Amino acid sequence: MAELVECATLEMWYARNSIRGSNPLVSAVNNNDMPKITIRYPLVKDAKRLLEIFNNPNFIYINISAKSVADEIRWIKARPQKRKDNHEWNYAIIYGDKIIGSIGIKINQEQKFIGEIGYYVDEKYWGKGIAAQAVKLAEQEGFKKLGLSRIEIIMCLENKASEKVAIKNNYKKEGRMKKAIIDKHGVKWDAWLYAKVL
Ligand SMILES: CC(C)(COP(=O)(O)OP(=O)(O)OC[C@H]1O[C@@H](n2cnc3c(N)ncnc32)[C@H](O)[C@@H]1OP(=O)(O)O)[C@@H](O)C(=O)NCCC(=O)NCCS
Repeated sequence: MAELVECATLEMWYARNSIRGSNPLVSAVNNNDMPKITIRYPLVKDAKRLLEIFNNPNFIYINISAKSVADEIRWIKARPQKRKDNHEWNYAIIYGDKIIGSIGIKINQEQKFIGEIGYYVDEKYWGKGIAAQAVKLAEQEGFKKLGLSRIEIIMCLENKASEKVAIKNNYKKEGRMKKAIIDKHGVKWDAWLYAKVL
């Protein structure tokens, strides 16, 4: 982070560290009983598959707005600028040659050392530790490349699977946020705030 502050802009920091414009492919350590996954920036060709994954009525506690492939392509095409502006860093989660989910880090624009991780995984792959591994990979990006020193994960109280993902990654519960998450029907839910700090 100190090095980041010394540079006039995030772009300069990336230029110095030669990572700007590259598409990181970050791999999880495979510990035999878990599928090995990687994460990389989303590409236009991923749009249909990502839409198919999150257009799932069982995705209750998450609000994703793309209604069509065209919407999703627009969203994907906006990602390079979001990265350039250090607003959001999104990644597709890859297993073998399949896209099985997505994970992102949203940078707090008032305090750029804070990021929030959010994720979703194809229901067919739930319960295999995929989201937990993806959080590890995204967290490496956040702490090592983006200069974060605090990462938050916020989930509805009812979203036990998401809470477990945070706990498995040693995030600590900091408190309850009243009506902090709005779902796709406009209903606001109380949420747990979990965080990890360096
Ligand atoms: C939340 C989500 C990403 C988890 O993905 P996943 O790959 O299944 O997560 P993991 O396998 O790493 O961990 C899930 C854990 O929750 C547990 N779990 C699942 N449902 C549970 C429930 N109702 N109560 C308690 N634990 C539950 C699983 O058993 C697993 O724990 P284990 O590894 O100890 O067995 C996935 O359910 C999802 O995409 N949900 C819809 C989108 C969403 O809610 N995203 C999060 C927004 S905050």
